[in-house]
Amino acid sequence: MAVKIRLRGLTKQFEVKGRAVIALAGIDLDIEAGEFFCIVGPSGCGKTTLLRILADLEPRTSGEIQVFRGLDVGSELNGSSSGSARGSRAEQPLNSMVFQEQSIFPWMSVRDNIAFGLKARGFSKPARYAVAEPFIHKVGLAGFEDALPYQLSGGMKQRVSIARAFANDPEILLMDEPFAALDEQTKIVLQSELLRIWEETRKTVLYVTHSIDEAIVLADRILVMTARPGRIKDILDVKAVFDRPRNVEVVKSSAQFGALFGRIWGLLREEVEMAQAQEAQGQRN
Ligand SMILES: Nc1ncnc2c1ncn2[C@@H]1O[C@H](COP(=O)(O)OP(=O)(O)OP(=O)(O)O)[C@@H](O)[C@H]1O
Ligand SMILES: [Mg+2]
Repeated sequence: MAVKIRLRGLTKQFEVKGRAVIALAGIDLDIEAGEFFCIVGPSGCGKTTLLRILADLEPRTSGEIQVFRGLDVGSELNGSSSGSARGSRAEQPLNSMVFQEQSIFPWMSVRDNIAFGLKARGFSKPARYAVAEPFIHKVGLAGFEDALPYQLSGGMKQRVSIARAFANDPEILLMDEPFAALDEQTKIVLQSELLRIWEETRKTVLYVTHSIDEAIVLADRILVMTARPGRIKDILDVKAVFDRPRNVEVVKSSAQFGALFGRIWGLLREEVEMAQAQEAQGQRN
């Protein structure tokens, strides 16, 4: 499998009130094309910072980042199904990010929100809507095309965000706790939908979550990070345990799930305690 994202010695340091805060310290990592890569780690260990650097929303302090373009596994799997409406490779955006908080435009319909990224790339209105259409269906929003965000539930709004990110057809998808604010039942439904869309498109996904359950259900591999400064503690191979396509309920009720959960929590526990100690220390200062 080809490498899609290569990080070498990636380091990020913030200055806070004249003091250096090292968020990421020397991350070396290869992520494969078409991989669903989950990141877990204690609060404040640099997960969001890592995604923001990859999205070019934040500069890195040092180290190297390479994203290899044109290794879209989905387009290879689906042959020419990506269609001419999608534009040429050169137009393909490098990344799309899905955030925890709702980041859709309140004044735009579901359809316009989903098609938004394509507008910025110069697609005509009919071309934008043609690309958006199947994604509206894939995330179960058929019939809500003309609805405005205030008419949608929290889960439906996150569906719009996810459809927009996939419709944008980026080289990599960056997802920062997209389901964290949702209730447990909605979360399970959306995890299943995300898995299905990902199976169809095979985008390279970097997915940050606090939920060990969610990471196991979704990931090919799970990166466990240390407390700040964020480093790689371990990487677990989930795809060796659970085949694709996956069924969320079947995975969660299996014996291997419990064993993996225990291993990950075993790695995370002391890091979470360390992060809490750091936070208490910060509050005293
Ligand atoms: N713009 C900034 N200026 C200064 N410090 C920052 C900035 N952004 C992040 N940090 C610091 O960098 C560290 C990592 O933050 P980050 O948001 O990446 O953590 P996280 O792993 O995403 O945490 P959480 O799980 O709570 O979302 C934290 O100590 C945070 O305070
Ligand atoms: Mg974060």
